[in-house]
Amino acid sequence: MIAIGCDHGGLQIKNAVIDYLKENGISYTDCGCYTEESVDYPEFAYQVAQNVADGKAELGIICCGTGIGVSMAANKVKGIRAAVCTDEFCAEMTRRHNNANILCMGGRVIDEAKAVKLASIFLNTPFDGGRHEKRVNMITDIENGHFNI
Ligand code: RB5
Repeated sequence: MIAIGCDHGGLQIKNAVIDYLKENGISYTDCGCYTEESVDYPEFAYQVAQNVADGKAELGIICCGTGIGVSMAANKVKGIRAAVCTDEFCAEMTRRHNNANILCMGGRVIDEAKAVKLASIFLNTPFDGGRHEKRVNMITDIENGHFNI
């Protein structure tokens, strides 16, 4: 299950990604928004992040104008590693090295075709583990307030 959401700035690329999910038989839950009426992006970022943090969704995708606001909001939820990506390399590496569990994209930054491409890379790339596991665990330590250096 993939949790997906957006604000008005990310609606068009979210809909393109939803079409891709449908075409590929990937189950998803759409947390909104559903129109181009101006809305507050933290509301939708939070719903996607909660679905991922609760284990209801394996991975999430959130779209706003830049991808930045939704990533900031999502990263406030415990257990979330949300990454803003604008190119294929970052979409791959944030799964392989950071074990990112939410992809954030901007509808005013990339077009629909690029958003679909980044989503497909993100959803199909596994975490490398190994030396990266220790580093991701260090992020979790920071989150839990017991990071020791
Ligand atoms: C909405 O105008 C815009 O601020 C939002 O989509 C997003 O880009 C915030 O980071």
